[in-house]
Amino acid sequence: MFPQLVRRASLRQLQIFEVVARLASFTRAAESLFLTQPTVSVQIKNLEHAVGLALFERVGRKVFLTEAGRALHGAATEVLETLTRVEGEIADLKGLKTGHLRLAVVTTAKYFAPSALGIFCSRHPGIDVSLKVTNRERILQRMAANVDDLYIMGHAPGGADTMFVPFMPNPLVMLAARDHPLSGERDIPLERIAREPFIMREEGSGTRMALEALFARHGLKPRVRMELGSNEAIKHAIIGGLGVSALSRHTLRPEAGPRQLAILDVESFPIERHWHVGYPAGKRLSVVVRAFLDFLKREARLLIPWDSEGGPALDSPL
Ligand code: PGA
Repeated sequence: MFPQLVRRASLRQLQIFEVVARLASFTRAAESLFLTQPTVSVQIKNLEHAVGLALFERVGRKVFLTEAGRALHGAATEVLETLTRVEGEIADLKGLKTGHLRLAVVTTAKYFAPSALGIFCSRHPGIDVSLKVTNRERILQRMAANVDDLYIMGHAPGGADTMFVPFMPNPLVMLAARDHPLSGERDIPLERIAREPFIMREEGSGTRMALEALFARHGLKPRVRMELGSNEAIKHAIIGGLGVSALSRHTLRPEAGPRQLAILDVESFPIERHWHVGYPAGKRLSVVVRAFLDFLKREARLLIPWDSEGGPALDSPL
């Protein structure tokens, strides 16, 4: 009556198989599932044994699905999606006592997303949460593959196939070392900044998109001396005298920032932006996910680390 696979394979193996297939890598699958790579390999071997055919083939260092693997992948995705939906429906029946929230956010949101989850979990201790922090490009890929429940980014993707709402200010401020000659000057023209060595976030970063758009609107181009993929590395490069840069004001939380930085008073700064939270259109939102969305919309001010005036704190150390 039951197919052989049901007797021999486990749901956990199907889940591991789905992640390896999606990421096309045993190593990345192990990282994403918090397992060791040998564990992932053993589970895939056992699943292959149950199926009776190889599911992956390695060509060089790459992993590809075999024909049997492709057939199983379609079925595994359907089974896992159905179970996730049912789990959500059951959690809804239990209200906010249980359930999970999988949040994925762009790099800079790491400065407030853990606090947001912390506050939410302290109110609903039965809820399991996971947080993925990665760059904007990967977030868009994850959203297309429907991997998470909610996404946070600075620059909401356009188009009718996603639903995003702003929930908190995300101003970009121009930063220099405290002993930089421009620190303390008023009304610095943007054209003056365009002559300074500039440290820029990596391609694909929302911060970079906003800066490039501003310079382009003024017919200017920053003199990029160095590209770095981390806000923390950029802050240290500024302090090290390598140049100036503009970052989200959220990167300057007292617990996250060294005190040797100054916010410059530059024309068109701060760039007034907002954090956006959203999901792919048509996605079914569980009670837990809706509660977290409401929490962000109503209480995001709890996550803002600067006072409501928000002006450049030129004479106070950050
Ligand atoms: P980023 O995004 O971390 O990718 O730069 C943040 C933002 O858009 O403000």
